[in-house]
Amino acid sequence: MKRILVTGGLGFIGSHTVVELQNEGFEVVIIDNLSNTTIDVLDNITSITGKKPEFHQIDLRIKNDVTSFFDNNSVDGVIHFAAYKAVGESVQKPLDYYENNIGTLVYLLQEMKNRGLDNFIFSSSCTVYGQADELPITENAATKPAESPYGNTKQIGEEIIKDSCKAYNLNAIALRYFNPIGGHESIKIGELPLGVPQNLIPFITQTAVGIRKELSVFGNDYPTKDGTAVRDYIHVVDLAKAHIAALKRLIDRNNKSTFEFFNIGTGTGSSVLEVIKSFEKVSGTKLNYKIVERREGDVTAAYADTTIANKELNWRTEKTLDETIDSAWKWQLKQKS
Ligand code: UD1
Repeated sequence: MKRILVTGGLGFIGSHTVVELQNEGFEVVIIDNLSNTTIDVLDNITSITGKKPEFHQIDLRIKNDVTSFFDNNSVDGVIHFAAYKAVGESVQKPLDYYENNIGTLVYLLQEMKNRGLDNFIFSSSCTVYGQADELPITENAATKPAESPYGNTKQIGEEIIKDSCKAYNLNAIALRYFNPIGGHESIKIGELPLGVPQNLIPFITQTAVGIRKELSVFGNDYPTKDGTAVRDYIHVVDLAKAHIAALKRLIDRNNKSTFEFFNIGTGTGSSVLEVIKSFEKVSGTKLNYKIVERREGDVTAAYADTTIANKELNWRTEKTLDETIDSAWKWQLKQKS
């Protein structure tokens, strides 16, 4: 049985990926510092899969702790989720973002290199493309200067991994996520935003249950089908499954180069108003919203060309937008009760 380290394994995407790994017969060991999640998630994962993953509460910024983890543990692969992810906050606290997102990546890669460990999966983002010149966005699209320190950590992270794969015996895949949303069908794990959500879906569901007064739709003068910005919203379980596919590709040595990257989205672009319509349909509630100014730093439209990921990873998304939003809504309703 292959043993996989999942950093940030109690977070939103991490927890869903741990479930899929266990379902596929992998043995999972989680490192998380609980900075943006709670320990309950460990029990919730266990109640879904019937298997308690091994858990280490470690802060990856403490190099000695990372070293002693690897002194005592051997793993067949690493999926690295642990990172900060709030775009606005990264502008206020860039050094925290560079320390947490870049420093920890370097420590992990050093430990892997020193011990001859291999198979590394990195959480990257479609943010590396900025406003792409052509849509849908293929992996061949140019990367654009990052709009925020957060986005920069994803670009620099990919560069660090690419250089490391070139210099050492390391194979890695970066997955460039589009917009992950939704939650597990068991309603036992989902997204737990701290404070006021910055992302669209949690803001919508919190508004619908009365935690927020109204949703502000950021701009309706974009050159899109209805004037609102377009994104590619992917169900987090579909996204989690892409990690399993990427991991197997590395373990089976089906990768075509030592560092690869893939777009992980649905291939369909949805506008903010389309998302609202879908939400109103699946929830049977009317959403309170108003149109306001554009949000600084937002791109007009981003959705994936998934041809390469579909073919190379032998993976595709299964959920529709309605199913995905429905899962986010059911999760929200459970939080309220
Ligand atoms: C953002 C980041 C992306 C990051 C992702 C992680 C930017 C430019 N991109 O994606 O790099 O990986 O979060 O979570 O910040 N919207 C509203 N009202 C709201 C919230 C959002 O109208 O209250 C709109 C936005 O303008 C956007 C869409 O909804 O058009 C999606 O926004 P959001 O969920 O924040 O994701 P991104 O900005 O696409």
